[in-house]
Formats: sequence, C-alpha cells, structure tokens
Amino acid sequence: VSEFNLLYKGFLLPKLAHTEESLQYLENFKVKDDDVFAVTYPKSGTTWMQNILPPLLNGGDLTPVQTVPNWDRAPWLEEIRAAVVLEERPSPRAIVSHMPYRLMPSSFYKSKAKVIYVARNPKDVIVSSYHFHKMASFLEDPGTFDDFVNKFLSGEIVFGKWSDHIKSWRNPELKDRILYVTYEEMLQDLRGVLCRMLKFLGRELSTEALDRVVSNSTFKNMKTNKMSNYTMVPQEIMDNNKSAFLRKGVAGDWKNFFSPELDAKFTAVIREEMKGTNIKFPWD
Ligand code: PPS
Repeated sequence: VSEFNLLYKGFLLPKLAHTEESLQYLENFKVKDDDVFAVTYPKSGTTWMQNILPPLLNGGDLTPVQTVPNWDRAPWLEEIRAAVVLEERPSPRAIVSHMPYRLMPSSFYKSKAKVIYVARNPKDVIVSSYHFHKMASFLEDPGTFDDFVNKFLSGEIVFGKWSDHIKSWRNPELKDRILYVTYEEMLQDLRGVLCRMLKFLGRELSTEALDRVVSNSTFKNMKTNKMSNYTMVPQEIMDNNKSAFLRKGVAGDWKNFFSPELDAKFTAVIREEMKGTNIKFPWD
C-alpha cells in the first residue's frame, strides 16, 4: 500500500477522498428503501449517472444538475462528502458507489433500495483510467500504458480487479433490486436506457421532461457544465489541462492504445476470469 492509498478490508482506495471516518460512516449508514444507488467500477459512467439519476427521481427538475456539483448531487457512499451531505438530501436520494457488493453497509442487504449497475468495456475503462491517473495528483503515476494494463490485470490497483467488481454485483440475492445497463447502450440510445431506468424505478416523466434530461446528459452539454465537468476542483488536484475529466466520451478508444499483442493478452485474461458466469456484454 503506497502513501496514496488505503486498504479497507482488502479493497484498495485512494486516500484523498476515503478515510477511516468515511468508511466508518459507510458501515453505519442507514439505507432507506427508496434510496437509489448507481454502482460502477470507476470510469464506467459514474458522472453520467450523477447527471441522470437526480432528475429521474425528482420529476425532471434540472435545478440540481445546474446548481449542485456532481459529488454532492449524488455523493459517493464511501467518500468523505457522504457524511456531510447525505443526511440532508431529500428522499428519494441518488447515491453512487464504487464498492464491491460485499462491502456495502449491513443495512443495504436488508433494504429494498434499488441499484443501477453500469458496466463499460474494460478496455475503454483502462484507457480512461490511465488518463485520469495522469491528471489526478492523488493517484499514482500510471507509468507506460502497457505497465498500467499489466497492473490492472493483476488487480494491484485502486478498486481492484474489474472482473471481481462485475461478478460481485451479479449476486442472486439482489433479485429484482438491480438493473444492469452498459455505457455502450447509453451512448447508443440514452433515451431508451432512461426509459428502462424509469420503468425499473417505477417512475414516469413527461416526454418533454425526459427530452430535457436526455439533452442535459449529452457529453457535449456535460462538458460545458461546471457542475459536472470537474473544473471546479483545484488544478493541483485535477489538472484538466493534462487531460480533461470528460475526456472523449466514446466507445472503442482502446484501439488507439492497445497493440495487437496486448489486446490478445488482455482479452485472454478477462475471458478466463469471466468463464462460467454467463454474463454477456455488447463488446464481447
Ligand atoms: S469516475 O472517476 O469513476 O467518477 O469516472 P466516471 O464518471 O465513471 O467515468 C468517466 C468517463 O465517462 C465519460 N463520460 C461520458 N461519456 C459519454 N457521454 C457522457 N455524457 C459522459 N459523461 C462522462 C468520461 O468522458 C470518461 O470517459 P473517457 O473515455 O475518459 O472520455
């Protein structure tokens, strides 16, 4: 464990936003039945969900998206801001998390709170993460892209192995409390995904309100919204000049970074780890 990170029950987390206290808060957190969690492995669509979920839960009001930074609008359960903002947020609350299933608060398992799990092609996740490690001073220097991929595959990285995260959230105990979506489906048909989310959450929005949420959540509009684009974070912590947080917002950028050999290795490792799971993704 380096000076940048903290090991919590075998799960490696960056120290900047995760502390003993924030994790204590998580453990004791009282999940409400109408809480809605968006769970992701990092760089899979968290910020996007922070833009989408609050208006889906509040009848289409975009005020929070325009006036509250994403990290307070739908805070991370495990991060320090949770204790500051979550108790006061009106229900139903939108909460995000990168935690694996086993590390959720005990009240979560007994609750009826719903979960939207967003997965993204791990090759694009790693490209996004690589750039994020370069721009964020609280993350270790990623080294070369190939080194970083090898670290990612070994799991010696913050938030652990991608495949472990994906598999942990396929727990049958969750039954119909969880909806699985992918970043790629969101890119292809955001409106369609939002309709599935609304149905899953048992909510409705007028056509106009839904259109507004869709339009507000395009990459272009989020990139120019300072409440969503991380430009309010001091440059010493996140240097958007090195690489913008909202970097490219596409599928398939991995092709610009993986050599054929690295691709073959990566595919083989992930395939082996996912063997026997019956989980199918659009990019497989
Ligand atoms: S984090 O650090 O875990 O919160 O990051 P996360 O928000 O999960 O992932 C960041 C990547 O999501 C992209 N993004 C989007 N893509 C398309 N459309 C929209 N609206 C959108 N919002 C965020 C963001 O650009 C990062 O991906 P890359 O590939 O680096 O561009």
